[in-house]
Amino acid sequence: LGHPVVFSPEVDSTNRLASELASQGAPHGTLVTAQEQTSGRGRRGRVWFSHPGGAWFSLILRRPFALSRAFELTLLASVALQRVISQLTKLDVQIKWPNDLFVNDRKVGGILAEIRSDGEQVHQAVVGIGINCNIPIEAFPAEVSQVATSLLAESGQRIDRTQLVGRFLALYGEMLDFLFRGEPAFERVHEEWCAHSHTLGRQVRVQTNRDVIEGRAVQLDKDGTLMIRTQNGEDIAVHSGEVLF
Ligand code: BTN
Repeated sequence: LGHPVVFSPEVDSTNRLASELASQGAPHGTLVTAQEQTSGRGRRGRVWFSHPGGAWFSLILRRPFALSRAFELTLLASVALQRVISQLTKLDVQIKWPNDLFVNDRKVGGILAEIRSDGEQVHQAVVGIGINCNIPIEAFPAEVSQVATSLLAESGQRIDRTQLVGRFLALYGEMLDFLFRGEPAFERVHEEWCAHSHTLGRQVRVQTNRDVIEGRAVQLDKDGTLMIRTQNGEDIAVHSGEVLF
């Protein structure tokens, strides 16, 4: 992963550009990165604040795998990023379900995967990653700084983004190979995900596509499902959604 590299000083969204390049035939492993994004995409249609200093990149994947395992793309990426960022910064990096990266209860990174499938197999994916690396806290708009922070602000040190991305790609590539071979992948790092979870054991409110579920996050299954135990003792399985603050 990471060959070739397409770098732009400024782009609307590296995910958008990566999809375009993929449709023009860009090979598996292409890395699209930018210094700044003018309309970075977040999950659930949100805008992603993409000031210079962050690591903003998207990976093009073109190896087929089962659609039922698409959730592993982002869960694996979150585990790989957790490991790499905590090694490089010594910060206590946590994963907020499903795949946000948190430091000191604030978001430092997010993952947005966009897939193409024929209903059974995923044949193309763009995995977009945003990490707030060397962004001074003053640069964040007020509403963003209430919920987000940067590695620079939390550690007091600038992080080498080339090293971060390089280490991530090596690790993520190894994890994805299991997926592409049809072997268990997330299962292998499931314990690691749980060990660094910001969500498990907490009282949470989860916004799903349908409603808001309130309770204690008691378990993350090997298929990425979050179990919420409600006040009346009922366990509800949540497959996708968002943990509200
Ligand atoms: C989230 O909402 O948590 C996901 C954020 C993903 C942001 C990254 S930055 C690089 C890539 N390009 C985009 O437009 N979005 C992703």
